[in-house]
Amino acid sequence: MAVGSRAENSGWIMFAVQRQNEPSIIGEVGFFLPQEGPTTGDLGWWLNSDHQGQGYGAEAVEALVDWCFKVRGLHRLTAHCLASNTASERLMARVGLRLVTRSVGSRWSAGAWHDEVGYALLKDDWQARSHPEAVKPRPMPAQDHERPQDM
Ligand SMILES: CC(C)(COP(=O)(O)OP(=O)(O)OC[C@H]1O[C@@H](n2cnc3c(N)ncnc32)[C@H](O)[C@@H]1OP(=O)(O)O)[C@@H](O)C(=O)NCCC(=O)NCCS
Repeated sequence: MAVGSRAENSGWIMFAVQRQNEPSIIGEVGFFLPQEGPTTGDLGWWLNSDHQGQGYGAEAVEALVDWCFKVRGLHRLTAHCLASNTASERLMARVGLRLVTRSVGSRWSAGAWHDEVGYALLKDDWQARSHPEAVKPRPMPAQDHERPQDM
């Protein structure tokens, strides 16, 4: 992937998707940072129709998710699509996002209202999946015999 048009504190930050050693851009992936508290990002993507269904989307979005957490230090990623957009929804699941919302009849598209699904991934869950060795164990609740004596 190559860095795209913007790198500011809020707004869309986009990356061009290119095949190795080929100059043409076959798509874009990126994320939207809200103005307030930019520790979460909403992902978006598209590929030229003649490059869809060949694994490029998954490869590019996997790299984007890694970049958002490792380099940009985001805490939570979200992504949304029409419930009928099977390729996008499977892409979200493929890169580790989990279904969190289904908004019935919330999106107007092509002359009709459609359901929209929302997916999300926390940095902690991404880290546990990709780098389990780096995850600190959660403290266990104290056992009775370990409690300090009443004073
Ligand atoms: C969504 C998009 C970026 C996915 O990229 P892609 O390179 O085509 O997807 P991949 O080949 O990496 O496949 C990712 C997953 O989607 C599935 N998939 C891909 N094309 C599909 C299709 N036409 N129908 C159903 N599933 C499809 C793959 O099987 C894979 O799922 P799996 O891991 O469970 O097997 C691409 O199809 C696209 O640009 N679509 C049009 C634009 C768009 O919808 N943008 C998002 C708006 S919210």
